[in-house]
Amino acid sequence: MSSADPRQQPLRIPALGVVALVGVSGSGKTTFARKHFAETEVLSSDTCRGWVADDQADQSATDDAFAVLYDVAERRLRRAKLTVIDATSVQPFARKVIVALARSQHVHASAVVLDLPLELCLQRNAARGGRKVPQEAIRQQHSDLRQSLDHLKQEGFRTVYVLDSEAAVAAARFERTRMAYDRTDDRGPFDIIGDVHGCADELKALLGELGYRRTDRDGAEVFAHPHGRRALFLGDLCDRGPATPEVYRTVVAMVRHNAALCLPGNHDVKLLRWLQGRNVRLTHGLDRSVQQFQAEPESFRNEIAAFIDRLISHFVLDQGNLVVAHAGLKESMQGRPTAGVREFCLYGETTGEIDELGLPVRVNWAEHYRGRALVVYGHTPVPSVRWRNNAVCIDTGCVFGGALTALRYPEREIVAVPAARAYFESPKSQHPGASEPTGPV
Ligand code: CTP
Ligand code: MG
Repeated sequence: MSSADPRQQPLRIPALGVVALVGVSGSGKTTFARKHFAETEVLSSDTCRGWVADDQADQSATDDAFAVLYDVAERRLRRAKLTVIDATSVQPFARKVIVALARSQHVHASAVVLDLPLELCLQRNAARGGRKVPQEAIRQQHSDLRQSLDHLKQEGFRTVYVLDSEAAVAAARFERTRMAYDRTDDRGPFDIIGDVHGCADELKALLGELGYRRTDRDGAEVFAHPHGRRALFLGDLCDRGPATPEVYRTVVAMVRHNAALCLPGNHDVKLLRWLQGRNVRLTHGLDRSVQQFQAEPESFRNEIAAFIDRLISHFVLDQGNLVVAHAGLKESMQGRPTAGVREFCLYGETTGEIDELGLPVRVNWAEHYRGRALVVYGHTPVPSVRWRNNAVCIDTGCVFGGALTALRYPEREIVAVPAARAYFESPKSQHPGASEPTGPV
């Protein structure tokens, strides 16, 4: 539960998400919603009762009313619209539906509880014109609410604000926080670069081909573009290749000097776990990164750990016309904040089945992609750049002897440099069709 005093601090809610107002009849939910949210953002169970039954107090219309409410809520969330639910939500089953709804749309649910004295709510209810709720019902709601208060977080509400006095309610103000993924204002231009996997020479050659020049910025060597273009790394900077620390050194310097953006890949987050001293299996070329990092000072290892730890799973850029994620991202997950979305960005999608080699069966989301945004991704090495629908995979397997590829955006031009040699044997040449583990271990 948040301990923030609303008189000093705004109630922070995600700009895209579900906000459940929780409180007994007469606690002032509808009045509160009117003050803080746009009319169309608020879905009220009473309004829905009115729509289906011409009577906001008709309790026999409850099921139909909530069917309408959840249907509209789901459609709003699909369209990335903040959705406020104005219903008592004092019982666990009602809140469970709200949490499930948020989860199904890959957003977080927040609860704002109007926890006012029972007597005040009874008084207000008695004084209001029009719809009045029976006193007994309000007493029951109040008892339900008291039993609920300590459990809201456990039930799955990401943030819980309890306003426990008239003063707290009056002082409340909201701040809508922009999603970290939301870079829609950033129009580039970008040079999007696929999986580098420790191939520092090819990376520098590619940056040169793309027009980046070594510059001196406060004593540090930074690749920068004379026209202000930025590189955008799709992740998997490490493992298998000969010079993983040098790749991070190059990329970190570029990010720090605003010459690049960088996403995490599954290999980067596994390396992070090793850098943090956790127990990880040194497979899929991680052993090489470990060897190379052992020759580096601890301060550098810590710097890289902090860098990877802060990477954001994906970006929505250029007015929503461009989405980048290491393993790609289907439309329903773009710009959304849940752990499930991050997993998809890092590992892609699997069916949950295991193939004859004991490896997870992957789903090629791009085959079904119908989104408006161009999705640029890496993760699965392909012999040449692969366009499917409005998605493009630019991991051309440099470390396996392929090429390191960049996509110029918005030009949609491909620039690639061939690998100097194969640094690692492709798992596919050992086991046709084999893929890597899709989990973090
Ligand atoms: N009210 C008030 N002062 C407030 C908030 C509400 O006097 N700070 C009054 C409203 O004008 C209304 C009554 O209290 O007459 C109930 O407020 P309402 O916002 O309708 O409460 P809800 O929680 O929405 O009640 P219900 O669940 O029955 O819809
Ligand atoms: Mg109301």
